[in-house]
Formats: sequence, structure tokens, C-alpha cells
Amino acid sequence: MAAVVSGFSKLSKNDKIKWLAEHHFENDQNTIDTLITYWNSDNQLQQLHDEFTENTISNYYLPFSVAPNFLINNKRYTLPMTIEESSVVAAASKAAKFWQTRGGFKAEVISTQKVGQVHFMYTGDVEQLLHFFTSLKPKLFTAVSEITENMNKRGGGITDIELKNKTTEIDNYYQLHCTFETVDAMGANFINSCLEQFAKTLITEAKEYSGFSNLEKNIEIIMSILSNYVPQCLVKASVSCAIKELPSTPLLSSQQYAEKFVRAVRIAEVEPYRAVTHNKGIMNGIDAVVLATGNDFRAIEAGAHAYASRNGQYTSLTHAKIQDDIFTFSIELPLALGTVGGLTSLHPLVKLALLLLEKPNAKKLMEITAVAGIAQNFAAINSLITTGIQQGHMKMHLMNILNQYKATESEKKLLIKYFETNAVTHSLVVTQIEKLRS
Ligand code: MEV
Repeated sequence: MAAVVSGFSKLSKNDKIKWLAEHHFENDQNTIDTLITYWNSDNQLQQLHDEFTENTISNYYLPFSVAPNFLINNKRYTLPMTIEESSVVAAASKAAKFWQTRGGFKAEVISTQKVGQVHFMYTGDVEQLLHFFTSLKPKLFTAVSEITENMNKRGGGITDIELKNKTTEIDNYYQLHCTFETVDAMGANFINSCLEQFAKTLITEAKEYSGFSNLEKNIEIIMSILSNYVPQCLVKASVSCAIKELPSTPLLSSQQYAEKFVRAVRIAEVEPYRAVTHNKGIMNGIDAVVLATGNDFRAIEAGAHAYASRNGQYTSLTHAKIQDDIFTFSIELPLALGTVGGLTSLHPLVKLALLLLEKPNAKKLMEITAVAGIAQNFAAINSLITTGIQQGHMKMHLMNILNQYKATESEKKLLIKYFETNAVTHSLVVTQIEKLRS
């Protein structure tokens, strides 16, 4: 059981490591060395990373990869992808290459509305609250004018504030349901600052409201927070081509491929067990771009999965159809992304990723990210309905197993050659390494 410690956050980095080594690793020097090996030799850069969060003791590397050949709305991109899972970047690149000669990806932002709510309880007469809200609403806008000034200049701000009666769900429960346009910022700080001010103004105005007495005594603020459910911050992306341009194998004509593909997507539309894995594959691509560009992948994940269940049953984020011999595959999902603020101007690799994408605005990044999702899903379904997923996965996994067994460069060369014509399984890789070494 871990020891209790107080004031840990105030210890220096070295003392934190010392405490850890003492209490968790029996003062093992190798453990200490591992943590220190991952420190950056550039002290300034290390300090920057240390200060992103609290109690930082080392850095945790993830691969920073790129997937070239993405033709999106007739413009070519190389996508930055930060992900540890083997095959994801290879699959994205393969899908990009396939679609670049078939018109590329089309993408379009449908809407960009963000949401935040002040949740409160009110125990008085509803009509009186409605009346009070009419006079309160303009005062709420005025109360945040300092916070919204810059956002307004950039073309954003608060778009509306509604009073919502939620008493059928919970007795006495009401909301200020607020919508925002945050332009190129993800906007979390902006939204939360506005909401917290709305809550304060709601209370102070209630005290002064002369419409009826004791209003403030009947109001209790529960919390003020943005919502990561953003069904009105939507982006669409699609690919389409003549059926005859789709892949074919000796066992599957292009027509059969198209039909099998559509059926595979249909299964994800109706079967939640499949839909979750199907969407997980989509998020492989989306999260990789979201992380590389310094956005909040947890927010994106939560919002995407909530959107996938918006009609009461969890379903696919992509759809496929065949019409007049044309195959069309599309994705629609909410993506509340930013290209300014947060990590975007702090993390050197995030800056580089945005530069690689030619400094997109938030809308452009929404389009690019949705494309990463549909490309990933195309590659996954393509494998699933033809060779199966393991062939590609195990080829990539081979390198992980070789590294795990500390294969030398010459061993790697020989074994990669061997597995060009033999199916990769963990046990066969181990047998072959042992054979080489004996
Ligand atoms: C693995 O990370 C993702 C897949 O399972 C997605 C899918 O099944 O569609 C391959």
C-alpha cells in the first residue's frame, strides 16, 4: 500500500523522485535512472513540460508520426499523428493514397456552436422566475462584457442564453443554457469564465429584484461548466467513386467489395457491440490528430460518443451507400477544436504540427480531423472485409516483438524477410529469434 505523504507537490523534482524511489521502488537506482533518462537536456524545454501539469517527474514519449498524401477539398496535406498503436499511421497513409487518385476527401463544417450551462435550484413560483429572467438576460450580457470584448472582436461571443425548466427531471432544477461562438479557440476558459460570472450575476440580481421578495433565498447555484456535448459543432467528410474504381481481389469483385463494405457499415449502424469498435477505429485517427495539434482528446472522445448515442442507441459515426453505381462513404461528428490558446502556442511539437497543416483555423482543423477519422475507418473496414485485421496488425506488431526481445539490426533484417512470406504470430517470432540465436 502506498505511504501517505503531505506537501508532496512542494518538493523539488529530485526530492519527489527520491520519495518515490524510497516508498515504491526500494530505492532501485535503475528506476531513478529510467525517469531521468527521459528528461530533456535542454533545461528550458524541460521546464516548459514540467509546468504543463503538477508533480511532473519525467516525460512520457509518444511517437509523433506523419501520414502524407491526404487530398482534402483539392488541397494536399501531410497529417501529424500522435499515437502509440501500431498500424494506425500506416492505415491512414494507405487510405489517403487510395483516395487521392479518386477525387480525394470532401469535408465541410456544418456548425460551430459551443455550449455551457449554469445549473441551479429554484423553489419559488415558475412564472416569477420567468419574469425575473426577462430582466436578467441583458444584464448577463453586460456583466461579461470585459471577458467577451476580445472574443467579440474576433467575431465570436455569446450567441444566446436561455432559461430551461428541468423540473420534470429533478424537482426545482433549472438551467441557464448558454451558447457560444469561440472562433479559433476551443474556448473552455472563455466559456467557463462567462458562466461563473453569469452565476454571480444571477445571485446579485436576484437580491435586488423588486418583482417579488426573497427571490435570492429561493435560488441555489449548483455549478457552472461548459458542456463537451456539442451536437451543433458539427463537421462532415466523405469520399465517393464509381464502384469499378474500388479494390477487387480474386475472391471479391469491386461490386461485391462495395456491397460487403456497405453491409459492414450497416452492421455498425444497428449493432452497438460492433459500433463501439467501429467508432474506436475512427477515433484512432481522430485522437492522433487531436493530440498532435494540442487539443483535448478526452473532450473530443466524450462528445463523439455522446453524439453516436443521440437517438437513444449507440450507432456508427460513418455511413456508406451505393447509388447509381457510385459508392459513397461519409462521416458526421462534433469536433470542438481550437488552433489558438491552450497548448497551441506553447508545445513546440504542437506548433510544428499546426505549421505542417499550414496554420489552419479551427474550421479547417475540424475538416482535416474528420478526414483522419473517415480514412482510418475506411482502412479498417477494407482490411476486415478482405484479409482480416491481423495480417496488417501483426506485420506492424512484429517490430514491437523484435524490440521486446532486443533483436539486433541484423536479426531484425533476417526476421522481417522471413515474415514477408510467413504469418506473424507471437510464438513463431519468438521461435525464430531463438533459432537465430542458437
Ligand atoms: C483497432 O484499434 C481498431 C479496429 O478494431 C477498428 C474496427 O474494428 O473497425 C481495427
